[in-house]
Amino acid sequence: MAFAGRKYYGGRDVKRAVTIADLQAMARDRLPAFVLEYLEGGAEDELTLRRNRDVFSAIGFRPSTLTGVGVPDLSTTVLGRKMRLPFIIAPTGFNGLLQYEGDRLLAQAAAKAGVTFTQSTVSNMRIEQLAGIPDLAHWIQLYVFRSQTFMEDLVGRAERAGCQALMVTTDAATFGNREWDRRNYRSGMDPTLRHKLDMLFHPRWAISVMARGIPPFGNLLDFLPADQQTFARTAIWSREQVEPDLSWNHIRHIRKIWKRPLIIKGVMSTRDAELAAEAGADGIVISNHGGRQLDGAPSPIDILPKIANRLKGRIAILADSGFRRGTDIVKALALGADAIMLGRAALYGLAAGGEAGVARALTILEEETRRTMALIGCRSIAELDRDRLRL
Ligand SMILES: Cc1cc2nc3c(=O)[nH]c(=O)nc-3n(C[C@H](O)[C@H](O)[C@H](O)COP(=O)(O)O)c2cc1C
Repeated sequence: MAFAGRKYYGGRDVKRAVTIADLQAMARDRLPAFVLEYLEGGAEDELTLRRNRDVFSAIGFRPSTLTGVGVPDLSTTVLGRKMRLPFIIAPTGFNGLLQYEGDRLLAQAAAKAGVTFTQSTVSNMRIEQLAGIPDLAHWIQLYVFRSQTFMEDLVGRAERAGCQALMVTTDAATFGNREWDRRNYRSGMDPTLRHKLDMLFHPRWAISVMARGIPPFGNLLDFLPADQQTFARTAIWSREQVEPDLSWNHIRHIRKIWKRPLIIKGVMSTRDAELAAEAGADGIVISNHGGRQLDGAPSPIDILPKIANRLKGRIAILADSGFRRGTDIVKALALGADAIMLGRAALYGLAAGGEAGVARALTILEEETRRTMALIGCRSIAELDRDRLRL
């Protein structure tokens, strides 16, 4: 509840951030408006973006007391691999727009925390640049482009680089209508005078990012026509490359060329979850892309219980969109998710304080999740089920 005197942490020391909301406030302070819009914005009226948060307030807990919880164990097994924590970093492109070498900083913080990191097709750094990070559990996300050569090259590179899983994003074949973002780029993607002034007023960001030049899209560089190599041109070019006819046939083809775990990201119905399993996927991400694609799409929490009823144990069930609290994570696990993916929660940390900021975001969520488990009287993830919730 807000009242005079209450405010989020306003300094620069990420260790003093108490919640993800503190990191968000720090990120808002550091970033120019057009970068902040890229990070925060949703599609159209942002109904889905808001629902992703509101949906959690309708769910409460049924705590048990005197259960001798001790320190709850948060480890879980996803796709045959034990994870120390039940969350994974979601794929996000343009991380280099938030911090210099943002992809590396995210991946390093994830590796040190024992958290899996998913690299985006449109990351700024190449797959191979991150593959050598010690202890990194590295997943790769695929946007299916019209060019089969591009897809097969990326899949081959991911395999050689040791990526453990391939995640195909299926909800962005048509680009979402992010109107506030579009208003920022009235004259194409090139910076206007207003952008340049905004950069001057955000010197910490400008020194980290602009002083080194906006980074290229590492994984696309080999495929870019010579006249499309700038950041602005590539952003437009890459959107035009996305395969508009994306269908289950593409998934069946990818299943043939990728032998390790395959995950479909962007599933929003029980029927599609079943089709994913039939097409040979090992997992799904129930996701509305953080409210950035279809405005009016359900929140993952709305459909997770039905999907879990049908498919729990058969394929890995992941969920993302709107997770900012340990309580959110525990609610989704109790509804049947095997793990949660973090988009903006990790990016607020990155924007606020680089690798230390991401590490802080992961620690905050770990502590909140463990505390929530203890408060509801649950010793391990396996003990979580719907009886723990007041629905
Ligand atoms: C800035 C930003 C960039 C994103 N880029 C990608 C991407 O390149 N590929 C992808 O599959 N999803 C992308 N997403 C969606 C995330 O993977 C994830 O689904 C979403 O952020 C989850 O919602 P949350 O931000 O509320 O946690 C992006 C999201 C954000 C916020």
